Amino acid sequence: MVFVKLAVLASGAGTNLQAVIDGCRSGEIPAEVALVLSDRPTAGALQRASAAGIPTHVVRPREFDDRTACDAAISTACAEAGAGLVVLAGFMRLLGPAFLGRWAGRCINVHPSLLPAFPGIDAPAQALAYGVRLTGCTVHFVDEGADTGPIILQDVVPVEPDDNAEALHRRIQAVEWRLLPEAIRLFAAGRLRVRGRRVEIG
Ligand code: GAR
Repeated sequence: MVFVKLAVLASGAGTNLQAVIDGCRSGEIPAEVALVLSDRPTAGALQRASAAGIPTHVVRPREFDDRTACDAAISTACAEAGAGLVVLAGFMRLLGPAFLGRWAGRCINVHPSLLPAFPGIDAPAQALAYGVRLTGCTVHFVDEGADTGPIILQDVVPVEPDDNAEALHRRIQAVEWRLLPEAIRLFAAGRLRVRGRRVEIG
C-alpha cells in the first residue's frame, strides 16, 4: 500500500470531494488531498476544501489563449502539489492530449451513468428521457474521449416510476460517494492493471 497525494479537480458542489476528504481522514483511503483545483471560483468544492484546510487553486479558462495553455496550468498545479493521482470529481471540462499524456493511468473520473450509456452532461436526465429502468455510476480512467476511458468500478441505481432528474442524481451521488473512495483505495493499493479497455483488479 502506497500513500498517494491527490489533486481533486471539481467544478460543482463538491459532495464527491467531501467523500474523498472524509475517506482520507478516516484512514479508509491511504491518501491525502493535497490540492483542490476548480475552473469556477464560486464552486462549493473550493469552500469544502478551505473548510478542511486543503490548498485550493482556481484556473479561469477565459484567461488563457487556448485549451492547451489552460491544461498546462492545471497540469503544473497538480505536479507542484506532488499529486500521484488526479481525481476528476464533477470537473466539467474536457482535458486535452498534453494533460492526459502526462497523467496517463494516473487520472480518474466519476460519472453519473453506467457508461458507455449517457456520456457528457446531464446524464441522469438523459437516462430518464431514454426510459431506462436501471442506471448508476462509473469510475473510470480518463482518456482523450468524453467519458470513454477504461472502467474501474460501476454500480447500479434503479429508476423509480415518479423520478425526476434531480432526485435520480441525488441517489446516484450517494453511490458515487462509496465508489470513488473505493477506486482510489484500489489505485493506492496498486491493484489496478489496465489491459486495453479492461481494468483488472488484483
Ligand atoms: C457528480 O454526480 C459527478 O458524477 C458528475 O458531476 C457531479 C458532481 O457532484 N460528473 C459528471 O457529470 C462528469 N461528466 P459533486 O460536485 O457534488 O461531487
